[in-house]
Amino acid sequence: MNARHEAPALDFIDLKSQYAALRQTINERIQRVLDHGQYIMGPEVQEMEQRLAACTGARHCISVASGTEALLIALMALDLKPGDEVITTPFTFAATAETIVLAGARPVFVDIEPDSCNIDATKIEAAITKKTKAIMPVGLYGQVADMDEINAIAQRHGLAVIEDAAQSFGATYKGRKSGNLGTFGCTSFFPSKPLGCYGDGGAIFTSDDTLAQACREIRVHGQSARYTHTRVGVGGRMDTLQCAVVLGKLERFDWEIERRLQLGQRYRELITRSGAPVQLLTVRPERDCVWAQFTVFVKEREAVQARLKALGVPTAVHYPKPLHHQPAYAEHCCAECCPESQHAAARVMSLPMSADLTDAQLQHVVSALVEATRG
Ligand SMILES: Cc1ncc(COP(=O)(O)O)c(C=O)c1O
Repeated sequence: MNARHEAPALDFIDLKSQYAALRQTINERIQRVLDHGQYIMGPEVQEMEQRLAACTGARHCISVASGTEALLIALMALDLKPGDEVITTPFTFAATAETIVLAGARPVFVDIEPDSCNIDATKIEAAITKKTKAIMPVGLYGQVADMDEINAIAQRHGLAVIEDAAQSFGATYKGRKSGNLGTFGCTSFFPSKPLGCYGDGGAIFTSDDTLAQACREIRVHGQSARYTHTRVGVGGRMDTLQCAVVLGKLERFDWEIERRLQLGQRYRELITRSGAPVQLLTVRPERDCVWAQFTVFVKEREAVQARLKALGVPTAVHYPKPLHHQPAYAEHCCAECCPESQHAAARVMSLPMSADLTDAQLQHVVSALVEATRG
């Protein structure tokens, strides 16, 4: 099959087909909010929180304004002091480290496993000091990090674990759900995430009653009762309309996750069979990857991306620079300290992925990839 002869317009993430499939449910959900008019903390907020807590198995779900806000509020609930340290990966979206700095602490970067791109749990203990208060692993691309090992380290040293599940929400780890694998799980409902809304939104999960209450208070300017500000908080609520959209999307979320797993498997089989010089991400036993991005490793990435673009296949790079090479975070790490992150940042490339991707579209992408990597 020659990719050049069939170049259907392909979205990197196809939100239009998803809306077409869910139009009636989502429209009805939105209309209900417009009718009752409770745009802030309306009934859909609690309904969504209850549904999502049940999805993950966590005792509490606290909806918040974004995934970034989820991480920040969880960190604020830990009462960090200036100079405290939080261990995380440099190979992630900026929000992960940004919120550590905003919460008054210092990010300490630990390098990644080269084949999964998640934080290397075997390197965490060496980075722990007297100032370490928490570990913040990220489920990059949709696969959860080594949470059992990370939780065991945290327990030995009395640390909190904040799972950044912005990309891994819906994934399974040893029979348990992402979002419920640490002291906190934090996720994002950014439209392109595995579970997205139509704007900004996010959620914090925890089974600790005291921390859940702290997060609820921080979300509304630190109020323990109306106009009683017992702690410093933020304006961090998720609005009712966005919760209504998430509720609409939950109608077929299980199907979407199943479909993402199947599409990921199909991509992997076709790429392997094609013999294209493309390295696949390793998915560890007893866990899956929900492919928030279907990411592979290629050489001469920019040239491959340009050829794919000409063949009608959009691509993206998550992420072109590790955070310890970004001006805002360079002071927290030496430039050569995380070589695997540096190496991955130079080679990763994400291909189109959404639950509504058809087999024909997927085959087209793989054919184009074969052609584009041939040079
Ligand atoms: C790993 C990770 N953490 C945090 C976030 C922040 O989420 P939001 O964009 O909802 O603030 C994102 C979103 O891209 C992310 O990918």
